[in-house]
Amino acid sequence: GLVFLDGEYLDFAQAKVSVEDRGYQFGDGIYEVVRCYRGIPFQLGAHLERLEKSARAIELDLPYSREEMEEITSELLARSGIQEAQLYIQVTRGTAPRSHFWPEGIKPVVVMYVREAAPPEEGLRRSGVKVITVVDDRWKRCNVKSLNLLPNVLAKNRARQAGAFEAVFYEEESRLVNEGSSSNVFALVADTLVTPDLGHNILPGITRKVVLDIARQKGLPVKEDRLSLDDLYRAQEVFITSTVVEIMPVVMVDELPVADGKPGPVTRMLYEAYREEVE
Ligand code: PDD
Repeated sequence: GLVFLDGEYLDFAQAKVSVEDRGYQFGDGIYEVVRCYRGIPFQLGAHLERLEKSARAIELDLPYSREEMEEITSELLARSGIQEAQLYIQVTRGTAPRSHFWPEGIKPVVVMYVREAAPPEEGLRRSGVKVITVVDDRWKRCNVKSLNLLPNVLAKNRARQAGAFEAVFYEEESRLVNEGSSSNVFALVADTLVTPDLGHNILPGITRKVVLDIARQKGLPVKEDRLSLDDLYRAQEVFITSTVVEIMPVVMVDELPVADGKPGPVTRMLYEAYREEVE
């Protein structure tokens, strides 16, 4: 892998940030994860646009233009020679003696790096995965891709303890599904593909958008709408999406099988179409 930090290209062992980086002390920053296929970043424009939105939401001025970040990305990919890569972009408020106030003129710290992609095992995609549902105890601005991932990390760990691949957050009162701890959720309900509508409860996933576009192109009825826990339990098919897992069939929700407990044909069709887009 290779790291870009403060204008320099470095090995992981050389790339160091201060213990007083506000990302480290306060989670005061934002990030993106981009998948690169055959040395080409997929949906980079959409990721950089979302990063800009996250930056505005936390009142941070990005020190680089979109063009500069595209250039750094190309440079990282070219210098590292990694073809199937994961690009991580993180921007923190900067470094300063610890205080909740941030000093005027503080300089954001941009870290970008590429590593070999670590996609899920193909066997999982054939068998499908289990998810558990957990009450969403996150803050009210989940549309911002912030570094504060403690609830997500704890939910994912609960999933693992339950032998599941992902934890799906739902609203305690309304029992409406929001998203996974690091993914968006889709369900096929009455032959319509449903995914929770955008708002402050979920991240506007880039993969979510690509999948919605493919589904519409294929003439599949699609709804961005409320999705209840009961919908999820009774769905014909369920899958999750993210940059890292692409499209992953879900065959068990809590202890209930989804339909016959096998990945469904709509999920497979969408995955095949997705692979065509990235190949
Ligand atoms: N996570 N929702 C949450 C909470 C996420 O963290 C992610 C992605 C998604 C899917 O978004 P996208 O399709 O743009 O990757 C939805 C990244 C991959 C991560 O934290 O590793």
